[in-house]
Amino acid sequence: MGKVIGPGSLIVDVAAYAKHLPVDGETVMGSSLKLGPGGKGSNQLTAAKRAGAEAIIIGAVGTDSLSSILTDHYAREQMSTKYMKVSETSATGAAVIEIDEISGQNRIIIASGASMEVVGEDVLKAEEDFVDCGVVLCQFETSLESILEAKRLAKKYDKPFILNPAPFMPVPEEVFDGVDYLTPNETEAEFFTGVHIDTIEDAKRAAEILLAKGVKKVILTLGKKGSFYYDGEHELHLPCLPLKAVDTTGAGDAFSGALAAAISEGLDDETALKFATCTSNISVTRKGSSPSMPYRHEILALMKESYGIEL
Ligand code: RIB
Repeated sequence: MGKVIGPGSLIVDVAAYAKHLPVDGETVMGSSLKLGPGGKGSNQLTAAKRAGAEAIIIGAVGTDSLSSILTDHYAREQMSTKYMKVSETSATGAAVIEIDEISGQNRIIIASGASMEVVGEDVLKAEEDFVDCGVVLCQFETSLESILEAKRLAKKYDKPFILNPAPFMPVPEEVFDGVDYLTPNETEAEFFTGVHIDTIEDAKRAAEILLAKGVKKVILTLGKKGSFYYDGEHELHLPCLPLKAVDTTGAGDAFSGALAAAISEGLDDETALKFATCTSNISVTRKGSSPSMPYRHEILALMKESYGIEL
């Protein structure tokens, strides 16, 4: 079993489902509302745990009642909370998510709350768990200094550093330098490279720009078009699997978390990419973000069915 660690957001998702999303000034009748554990960091680590890794989050919640949705989730999933701090000053992060039930697409507003209080010092307190980890995993929903500290520790202990640059925001170029695997979606890749991605050729051009910033391997997630891997030498386009999407919330998180789990257990890049593809494709067939992450046996069954790979 591999071990994945990193600073990550702990967010409660308030998800509303409707047959179509409202335009400005419109009210639509929804069909259901769900409150559940989310946050890109926590979703990714949940995906890694369910995929078979030990997964440790360095995160923060508030003192309010929303935090119990997250702590209950960690208890159920048997995930460590030893580096989960309780902020006295900020509320537990929350996200309002609107989901179009027909297309499965979503839009999200996050109030990060306590998650942005995860700082470099919190990451440093977890140093002993970086020593024997298999992968260090980050996103952009904790402070920039926590991400830079995690990357520094990954380099110190010679561990692969995976960065999911989401949600997109302006960051100093140094963030990208030395990243082993960068996993942007098309929107994020366009934001960081200026390349609008419609085709696989566009994806390759964007990946080349990201490699020039010091990233070693780029894996672009392309929604319905699947994913594209490029390391400057080898390229691989993996199309989506033919599964029906009902809710794409957390699909990118499923991908990055499973990729981290696979790399941490020593799988080669192509197999890890297929493992991540199976994981994210199963996650979109289910509602919710963290709750939609598949378990290892489900991923392995789809690996065998789709790629003939038995792990
Ligand atoms: O990637 C999906 C996640 O983004 C949601 O769970 C929400 O909390 C936001 O962080």
